[in-house]
Amino acid sequence: MNRLQVIDCCDKHWNPTAATLYHMSHRTIEHRAEGSWIEDEEGNRFLDFACSYGVFIVGHANPHVQAAACDQLARIATLPYGMMEPSQVGLMQRLARMLPGDLNRVWLTNSGAEACEIALRAVLAARAPRRRIIVARDSYHGKTLGALNILGQHNHRNPFDPLMRQVDFVPYGDLAALSDAMDSDVAAVFLEPVLGGPYLQVPVSGYVKQVELLCREHGALFVADEIQTAFGRAGRMFAIEYDAAQPDIILLSKGMTGGHAAIAATVMSDRLYETLTGLSDFDADYLASGAGASPFACATALASLDFIERENLPERAQRLGVRLISGLRRLARQYPALIEEAPGIGLMTGLKVRNPAVESAITMVMGRHGIHLGHSMNESADHPVLRFYPPLTVTEGEIELCLDKLAASLEQIGSRPVKLFDCLNLLVRRQYRLPRWFVYRLTGVKQT
Ligand SMILES: Cc1ncc(COP(=O)(O)O)c(C=O)c1O
Repeated sequence: MNRLQVIDCCDKHWNPTAATLYHMSHRTIEHRAEGSWIEDEEGNRFLDFACSYGVFIVGHANPHVQAAACDQLARIATLPYGMMEPSQVGLMQRLARMLPGDLNRVWLTNSGAEACEIALRAVLAARAPRRRIIVARDSYHGKTLGALNILGQHNHRNPFDPLMRQVDFVPYGDLAALSDAMDSDVAAVFLEPVLGGPYLQVPVSGYVKQVELLCREHGALFVADEIQTAFGRAGRMFAIEYDAAQPDIILLSKGMTGGHAAIAATVMSDRLYETLTGLSDFDADYLASGAGASPFACATALASLDFIERENLPERAQRLGVRLISGLRRLARQYPALIEEAPGIGLMTGLKVRNPAVESAITMVMGRHGIHLGHSMNESADHPVLRFYPPLTVTEGEIELCLDKLAASLEQIGSRPVKLFDCLNLLVRRQYRLPRWFVYRLTGVKQT
């Protein structure tokens, strides 16, 4: 199948908007991947600084993880949820050992949104009759119906309203707003230790700990969503370590298998578990998911965690992150009309840009230079943050290559009048409603 056939299939059998975007951005078919590199079916190579928003922590096709996955596949791939298979047992023990405090009770499932659902069920049961949940505006916790309730990006929620009414959204990083929102009806606060979504916001030091303390003061539970930040991405094994914060529940997923299999975990404290099992009408099994924790996924997760610990990837992310962010900040200073700032921590970095049109322009031009970046995928954001999330195994040379290509791309984009991007932005905001021929004409792409 060639590229145009794939786009045609996408158009007819999946998502016509995605088909338009793939065609317009000259997206080619990914054929194989290794380390920091993706190769298309024609042999063109792309440096992967998108990593599916942080999934490919240990590098693509990591040989250590591949060997463990093949070995497990040859023995036993899946089993119903339970704890009888050594890789499942091993993963639960490993997570409990790695996590701080008494985060010892592990529920395994397949996706981040499901992990979030398990946490929602646990906090509502444990703190009944309290019903209110507080989350940050613009936060991202997944898109299953339960997780949607606490999604801070309203454009994703709106088509499904009315959802749970007792959810309050407060600005990320604003302790006073959170404090005002707390009362004796709050069951839990869900918080990303570094905000993801269309923005990338690193809170001031101490904020996450203060959120925990506010929860304690009001008898609410504190849920840390580390689906994007954990396993070294933010420069520590877990981002809560920066503040020595101690959540009641932590949510994990993306980097856990380094993208070699789907898995997610909801890990709760012994104290919370005892509260739940003390409830007369509650069985801990109500939280389980039948398809979670396949031995195959558990074995790949264990191998990835081995690799992350052995190679000390969190320290590497912190060290190389300094290099990447200083390069991004240098370019941000050079192009103030296009770039507002370069936020980030560890290898979770980005460019906060003038508007979504600039974000799309940088993504497309960098794509033509052979670099994949993580587009925020939110055209309604005012100043979205274009992500630079390489694998944590990235080399210094690959970081320099990305920065060189970024300098060349910004030179090209910066040679156009900045007002052009403000006009284009009016169209970008409506791009899903524009006729396809018009979008192609605008971006100089031939109709298929
Ligand atoms: C912080 C955070 N929470 C939850 C999710 C949802 O995970 P999934 O897409 O696996 O459902 C994501 C996914 O990007 C995320 O970044």
